[in-house]
Amino acid sequence: MFGRWVKFGKDKTGATIVYHACDLTDFKSTKQVRDSILKSLPPIAGVANGAMVLRDASVVQMTFSQLSNVLRPKVESTLNLDRLFATKRGSLDWFVGFSSIVGTTGNPGQAPYSAGNVLLKTLTRQRRARGLPGSTINIEEVKQDYHKRHLGLLAHTHLGFSR
Ligand SMILES: NC(=O)c1ccc[n+]([C@@H]2O[C@H](COP(=O)([O-])OP(=O)(O)OC[C@H]3O[C@@H](n4cnc5c(N)ncnc54)[C@H](OP(=O)(O)O)[C@@H]3O)[C@@H](O)[C@H]2O)c1
Repeated sequence: MFGRWVKFGKDKTGATIVYHACDLTDFKSTKQVRDSILKSLPPIAGVANGAMVLRDASVVQMTFSQLSNVLRPKVESTLNLDRLFATKRGSLDWFVGFSSIVGTTGNPGQAPYSAGNVLLKTLTRQRRARGLPGSTINIEEVKQDYHKRHLGLLAHTHLGFSR
């Protein structure tokens, strides 16, 4: 999927597309990627954060690992990126977090996902209070295969998405 997106970008726009693997929950690794980009590419104009892991389970059955696996990609990625792009000097034009409508409505089996999205939205709003760019998009369902891709998790936990 990602390969197709890169090919599309190159073919249709002629853009140079460079990508790095990075665990956004790891500050050091995220900083290394940022520094490498700063050294080798034009100034960074913006950051878009779409990190997500889903491990649906009801709160009473949820293990700590399930909780942590879902929360960390949302919470720590947001904290790390905020920390790395927190100065006004040479600041970004945009800093966008992909949040979910689930952060507003909640959804059965998705308490940590909902909480992670609330953190993302709150911290992004706080960035603006600090005079920095920050926006979130509260996405509903982009396309049907979102459910299919996570169907195994949903079937396993006997939970479903409400619309
Ligand atoms: N699609 C929708 O309908 C929908 C609806 C509401 C909100 N959203 C939001 O939109 C964003 C993207 O959703 P999607 O449907 O594109 O999800 P996706 O296909 O599951 O993509 C999530 C991405 O996050 C990456 N990721 C997970 N943990 C990470 C980490 N620690 N460091 C770096 N990357 C990490 C995953 O990388 P790996 O593949 O390497 O694990 C994956 O590429 C999410 O933030 C989600 O909350 C999407």
